[in-house]
This record gives sequence, C-alpha cells and structure tokens, in this order.
Amino acid sequence: MPRWDYAPAPEATDIVTVKDTYGLFIGGEEVEPLSGDYFKTINPATEEVLAAIPEAGLEDIEAAVAAARKAAGTWAAIAPADRAKYLFRIARAMQERQRELAVLETMNGGKPIKESRDIDVPLAGAHFFYYAGWADKLEFAFPGRNAEPLGVCAQVIPWNFPLLMLAWKIAPALATGNTVVLKPAETTPLTALLFAQICHQAGLPAGVVNIVTGAGETGAALVNHPGVDKVAFTGSTEVGKQIQRSLAGSGKHLSLELGGKAANIVFADAPLDQAVEGIVNGIFFNQGHVCCAGSRLLLQESIATRVVSKLKRRLSTLRLGDPLDKNTDIGAINSRAQLDKIKELVGVGVDEGAELYQAPCELPEHGFWFPPTVFTGVSQSHRIAQEEIFGPVLSVLTFRTEDEAVEKANNTPYGLSAGVWTDKGSRILWMADRLKAGVVWANTFNRFDPASPFGGFKESGFGREGGRHGLEPYVRLT
Ligand code: NAI
Ligand code: MG
Repeated sequence: MPRWDYAPAPEATDIVTVKDTYGLFIGGEEVEPLSGDYFKTINPATEEVLAAIPEAGLEDIEAAVAAARKAAGTWAAIAPADRAKYLFRIARAMQERQRELAVLETMNGGKPIKESRDIDVPLAGAHFFYYAGWADKLEFAFPGRNAEPLGVCAQVIPWNFPLLMLAWKIAPALATGNTVVLKPAETTPLTALLFAQICHQAGLPAGVVNIVTGAGETGAALVNHPGVDKVAFTGSTEVGKQIQRSLAGSGKHLSLELGGKAANIVFADAPLDQAVEGIVNGIFFNQGHVCCAGSRLLLQESIATRVVSKLKRRLSTLRLGDPLDKNTDIGAINSRAQLDKIKELVGVGVDEGAELYQAPCELPEHGFWFPPTVFTGVSQSHRIAQEEIFGPVLSVLTFRTEDEAVEKANNTPYGLSAGVWTDKGSRILWMADRLKAGVVWANTFNRFDPASPFGGFKESGFGREGGRHGLEPYVRLT
C-alpha cells in the first residue's frame, strides 16, 4: 500500500457548459425532435442528471437522412483539397477545445480524466488530421482506380470511447466525400452534441454531418432507412448480427466492429515488470470497457505464480474513484446495466470454480463501481474465458508451448486483438502469423494510431478503421 494518500486533485468543470436540454443536429441546425420525446443522461460516477436528450423517432430519422442526402451531391463535388480544409479545421477546433471535450467525456462516461485528456481526445483530433491528409490523395490510396463516395452513411457508435469512435467513423467518411448521420450511444451523447457545435464552428456545409440521439430503436430505424447507402456499426456482436441480418439483400454497404476476448500472452523470457504494466493497461484501461481489452491473460506455466503475485501487488496500488481526479486510475462503470452484467458474469466465474481476487479498495457510495478483479484457475470452458465481460475483470490461464498458446488464444469466436510478450523477435513474428486477430501488439498493449488499421476476424466483425485501409469501407472503386 502507498504510504501517503494522494490529496484530491479534481479537474475543474467550469470549462464546460452543459445545457438542460439538447436538440438534434440536422441540416446544420440544432432542432427539437419531432417525436417530442426526451430521455435523461447522467454522470455515472454520481448518478446526477446532466441533461435531457432527444429520443429521435422515425420522422426525425427521415429528416436527418434527407438532410444528409441533400448535402451529398455538393459535398462529393467540391474540390478534394477544399474538403480537406474543413477536416483540418475540425481537427484544429478539437485541439483548441480539447480540455472542454475531455472534461465532458469524463462527466458523461465515467472514464478517468487522465485517459480522456491524454488518449481519447488527442487521438480523436489526430484521426481528423490524418484523414484530412487523405482527402486530396485518394488516387494514391487506390492507384489506377477511381474512388467514389458511397453517399449517405448511417453510423452507430458505442459508449466506451464516445468521441474517439465518432472520429473513427466521421473522419474517413467525410474525407472520401460521403455525408453522415451519426447516432451516439444513449448513455454518452454529450461529446457528440458538442462535436455538432464544432462542425458549426468549422463552417461545415449544412447536412454533411447530422447527429441524432436515442437508444437501440433509434439506431435500428437509422440503419434500416432506405435512404441510407452505407452502415457502419461499432458495438455488441449481438446487435451487429441483427444489423447484418436486417440489411441482407438491401444492397447497403456494411462494416462492423464488434466484441472481443483478446489473449494477452506472456512468455517466460518477457520483461516481467513491464509485462505486468501491459497486463494492467490491457484490462483496466477504461474500466475494461474496451473491445480489444486483454481480458484473457495467458501465462507460460513456469512464471505464472510470479506474475500473478506481481500483478496482485500492482492492483493494490491502483486508485479507484472520482473520474475527474487527475490521479484516478479506475473510473466509474458506464451504466447500471453494464454493472449488472459485470456482476452477473463475475458470479458465474465464482460458481464455475475459478478463484477470485479483488484489489482491496473502497467503492464510492453513489454511482456505478466495480473493483479491479482477477480470476485464476480459469479453464477454457469457463464462461469468463469465453464471453466478453466488458469490465475490469481478468481471466488468467496458463500454457506450456507456443503451439498451446496459439491454440488457446484462437479458441474464441472473436478475433479483434492479441498481445505477445517475449524477448525474442522471431517468436513475436511466429506468433503474429498464427494469431487470428486484427491487431497483434508486441511487448505493449492497447496502442492506437490513426495510421494503423484496426478491425476484426470472425465474430469481431469486418472492415477496417484507421490507416489507408480505413478509406476502403467508404468508397466505390471503379
Ligand atoms: P449495443 O450493441 O446494444 O449498443 C451499441 C450501440 O448500438 C448503441 O448506440 C445502441 O444504441 C445501438 N443499438 C442497440 N441496438 C441497436 C439496433 N437493434 N440497431 C441499431 N443500433 C442499435 O451494446 P450495449 O447493449 O450497450 O452493451 C452490451 C454489451 O455489448 C456490452 O456488455 C459489451 O460486452 C458489448 N459492447 C461491445 C462494444 C465494442 O466496442 N465491442 C461496445 C459496446 C458494447
Ligand atoms: Mg444493447
């Protein structure tokens, strides 16, 4: 245990103005929902109500898709270098307002301010800068071919990285000349609505970006609207499958970024202390609400006991609490529903006979919290080794040989990411060749860069986001 307690160091919130009631962003304006319905968005760390948010209905979706359609022709026709200017302008405005965005992201989503400030918001801005650069260079991305925009894109995103997922969706779509209707997740709409102001500030032509809020029903109405040419979805595998079924035969383009159950594989020759930091970052970053989280730790048998004891010691130093505090490592669980799901699966882990360890820590009285948790003695058939928990819960398994590590790592319906920790470069390459995962990190974990493609195998989805590959889902090549 640390000898000294950290003094509270809360980030001030006066930089953000949260309105009591928001509108939808359609055709370049904030409009009241035709549905007349609203829901409340809260701060998951305090359960305090932040604002009333429109629940967009069918007529609202109709209006948003019509606005995007109306803007599509001119947006596709302007000089690509001019399109780039708008994206650069948005990127710069995001940088200028990054503290505001970070504080709001943390208030609405519960993630530690040090993560929203140092990771989410800078990466979101970087994504716009990166795709702004591609806007007038598509002929180099697709040599000898002509890349045409698809038209109107319906984009539905989750609550774990609200602004970053918005950037991953909107930046490549706009760079390639498409217009969008984006629906943020119901628990985290506020940074998307602030982004609407940024679009306005950047002078983006009306209707190029439209933002509609609401829950699953709104999302379903959007992706099924006949005026939509392309659907991009990030979220649960269950909903992804539902969308794929409902779009079958519609001719709409589709990309899906779904769940994961990544293996983080540590060999005996790895730098163990560094690996422990990577394990912690792999599963406790953003409370484990990460599709590519390293939720299955595969330890080579000879070092398993040592690594687990180092890991437990490290867990006892993690600080859980006020997400706005600059020293906080573990913030709030995003919603009561997610907390219930985590509790249920942890209960299943105990019932199935795995051994539970939870870092000693006091949970705040209000809000949604779950302590960092490690299960040892996990076997491959356990549900906690199979299902995405999407919380701060790690399942530890062991292996003896490289072949066994590969087999266990790939023994999942998912295939989004994996990590390999070893001193040996040849082993990294050998493993990376055999792991069925869209991203393989070597001696690190949860590293993101706009220039690097990200996406899944198997039930983790298809299509890539980031990099040159991230342009492909948004163009028709002729
Ligand atoms: P979800 O997949 O229901 O929600 C993601 C987004 O899809 C939200 O914007 C939601 O409003 C929208 N949505 C829901 N139903 C829809 C439908 N039928 N058609 C169109 N859009 C729809 O995820 P949820 O319920 O929030 O979380 C459940 C589990 O899903 C989590 O515990 C986690 O395991 C997983 N998940 C995975 C994510 C990932 O990035 N891989 C992100 C969010 C959740
Ligand atoms: Mg759901």
